[in-house]
Amino acid sequence: MIVCVCNNISDREIRMAIELGSDSMEALQRDLGVATCCGQCLSYATELLGDTLAQSHTTVLQETVLQRQTCSN
Ligand code: FES
Repeated sequence: MIVCVCNNISDREIRMAIELGSDSMEALQRDLGVATCCGQCLSYATELLGDTLAQSHTTVLQETVLQRQTCSN
């Protein structure tokens, strides 16, 4: 789904950029150009950022817990 119509940026592209290290709205604006024109996409892009970061942190936490459970030391 296209989130930023002005710059033709999809939710998938935004999630990928976040997973690759764009961890703030300023970084997304710099790296993708999202919300740099009319600004109508800013609130949804910010919501995507928060959801994706939270999901990413949960995944890292789950992987850490799993590693601890399988370690024999
Ligand atoms: S829709 Fe994203 S800047 Fe206009």
